[in-house]
Amino acid sequence: MKCIGTGERRRMEYKSREKFIDKSEGTARTDESDDDVILNLTLRPRMLDDFIGQDVVRGSLDIALKAAIQREEPLEHLLFSGPPGLGKTSLAHIIANERGTKIVTTSGPAIERAGDLIGILTNLSKGDILFIDEIHRLSKVVEEFIYPAMENFQIDFLVDKGPYAKTVKFNLKTFTLIGATTRSGLLSAPLRDRFGMSVHLEFYAIAELTAILKRSAKLLGIPIDDAGAGEIARRSRGTPRIANRLLRRVRDWVEVKSDGRITGDQAITALEKHGIDGMGLTRMDRRFLETIYRSYKGGPVGIGALASSLNEETDTLEDVVEPYLLMAGLLKRTSRGRELTEDGNKYLGKNAGTRGELF
Ligand SMILES: Nc1ncnc2c1ncn2[C@@H]1O[C@H](COP(=O)(O)OP(=O)(O)OP(=O)(O)O)[C@@H](O)[C@H]1O
Ligand SMILES: [Mg+2]
Repeated sequence: MKCIGTGERRRMEYKSREKFIDKSEGTARTDESDDDVILNLTLRPRMLDDFIGQDVVRGSLDIALKAAIQREEPLEHLLFSGPPGLGKTSLAHIIANERGTKIVTTSGPAIERAGDLIGILTNLSKGDILFIDEIHRLSKVVEEFIYPAMENFQIDFLVDKGPYAKTVKFNLKTFTLIGATTRSGLLSAPLRDRFGMSVHLEFYAIAELTAILKRSAKLLGIPIDDAGAGEIARRSRGTPRIANRLLRRVRDWVEVKSDGRITGDQAITALEKHGIDGMGLTRMDRRFLETIYRSYKGGPVGIGALASSLNEETDTLEDVVEPYLLMAGLLKRTSRGRELTEDGNKYLGKNAGTRGELF
């Protein structure tokens, strides 16, 4: 039997989450062609002015950037939190572009030992950015190794072993750490306190998503009218990444089935074919809601029980499926577990109280 270490297991869990995120948006990662990957990079906003929506976040980053430039100092360490696909990675790259500095990217699960970070940290120049994605998944040991690096720009090396072992301090250049997390609640308090600025990204409004879709359509040369962009925006779960992905699916549809122009009606038909309904809910969302309804009489039910009923990871349900259902008012979290709201029951085509079989 092959034994796997904790690091390997964490990496595997991370991969399964990544795959799940794509699956939940209607396409498995294995379906993502090289074209899709290139398009993603093409569509990523490069400067703060290209970044649409999130006005409060954009405003405070703009001030922080200008103040740091005036003082000729590196930016304070920054933490971005919020559900997947809202622009955390894009913002980290935007900050590096605005400052004209290098950005080195890694992720919590990829850093297995403190030693993995020594090379990265010692190679950073003044003002460079170290971007750690999924920072809540750093191991305790690595987290503690990072504290002095964040606070005093110093790291401690352990040289030699046994009675001759001694700690040597190494001074680092004043870099900026940018952490991103989908689960800020899982971040330890000491780590959170070491960030100078903490920014939470909210789901986007339909008007903002419509603007993002129009920008993307222009960059990709896709003819789209206002109604077409609006219908896709409405079905994008408040998330730019999903909006861009749905745009490509609708484009494929109109190219094959009509004249290549995206209108409102065509967007609706194409997305229905992909199992995406008028609220943007996918088959996975419906399975989630229906399981609470059917197997747990509308709740409350603990997330662990739901995860085993659905045969999915707890983390992925909490990261990917729940945030939008909560925001859309179909689900509520109580101290006793997850419960369907009145709107959730209505969505499933029943009234609260008369709970029968759905299938
Ligand atoms: N405000 C925005 N304006 C325009 N496009 C955006 C915006 N935010 C995100 N996008 C688009 O959405 C895509 C996904 O964004 P990004 O990768 O930055 O999300 P994320 O928050 O890092 O997600 P994850 O948590 O899954 O890593 C980007 O490639 C970009 O095209
Ligand atoms: Mg990201």
